[in-house]
Amino acid sequence: MSNIKNIAVFTSGGDAPGMNAAIRAVVRTGLYYNLNVFGIGRGYDGMVHDDIFSMDAKSVANIIQRGGTILKTARSEEFRTVEGRQRAYDNLKKREIDGLVAIGGDGTFTGASKFIEEHNIPIIGLPGTIDNDLVGTDFTIGYDTAINTVIDAVDKIRDTAESHDRVFVVEVMGRDSGLIALRSGISVGAECVLIPENKVDYEAMMDRLDRTRKNKASRVIIVAEGDDAGGAFAVAERIKERFPHYDMRVSILGHIQRGGSPSCMDRVLASRLGVVAVEALLEGRRGEMAGLIHGEAAFTPFSKAIKHIGTVNDNLLRIVDILSL
Ligand code: F6P
Repeated sequence: MSNIKNIAVFTSGGDAPGMNAAIRAVVRTGLYYNLNVFGIGRGYDGMVHDDIFSMDAKSVANIIQRGGTILKTARSEEFRTVEGRQRAYDNLKKREIDGLVAIGGDGTFTGASKFIEEHNIPIIGLPGTIDNDLVGTDFTIGYDTAINTVIDAVDKIRDTAESHDRVFVVEVMGRDSGLIALRSGISVGAECVLIPENKVDYEAMMDRLDRTRKNKASRVIIVAEGDDAGGAFAVAERIKERFPHYDMRVSILGHIQRGGSPSCMDRVLASRLGVVAVEALLEGRRGEMAGLIHGEAAFTPFSKAIKHIGTVNDNLLRIVDILSL
């Protein structure tokens, strides 16, 4: 039998579509197990400033389809300090909160580890980030929706690119990770994909652009924002130097990738993981991220979950290469 009676849920870091579905699942699973459930506004900042409130089944009604996070999210400088974390802990203790579900990415789990170390409070993490850059889950909540947003946008760009015989350089999100670029690049039939995990091979890119010219009216290059090329404008400039006669345009998709109604995959993933997180707390787990690996629930210590591998599946890049003829 678990001693946990009162739990709280919060979202932290960049928002991601499906966070609301995860909040709903945590709240309702907590109620199912007769726990008192609290929400914390604005992540760690709300914990420090006592933005903590009771949640019931109704407070999460009609949110599964909504993008963003109803709990809001923020960066907290104060939580980075020992005093800030002490204040946060005191605010939780006041309400006898004895378990937390933290929805976010690497910054969220780094903060959670520190908090457990100092205050020994059980925390289970859920992977909520569009970047898909956490170890211990095949997919993070928000990734599928984000890549579908990219696909939708680039398909539209392709229509106009094709009509004008243009080359487009499209920048997608991914400060440290090329996983949005890679999957969406394959899905839109991009001619080249540039990602932070690999050094840019300009020669190969120029060759490919030159080679593909005879078969295609339009060409699309997908660049992850964190790529060492320095972003879409820098890439476009290099191409223009080499092929001044190309009619080129740049499009930066930006934060539209973080919004929107979550896909079926993200809603189901968030719902499953919300249930898993609460049950894990009741089983006495702590300091781990809950994820799905090959469709099965899996737990990964925070310290390992945040170690983005830094390499990508080379086979996916090979597929871009082969299919870009
Ligand atoms: O959520 C992760 C991420 O999408 C990164 O890929 C991107 O660099 C970053 O968020 C931008 O976040 P913000 O504009 O909130 O600083």
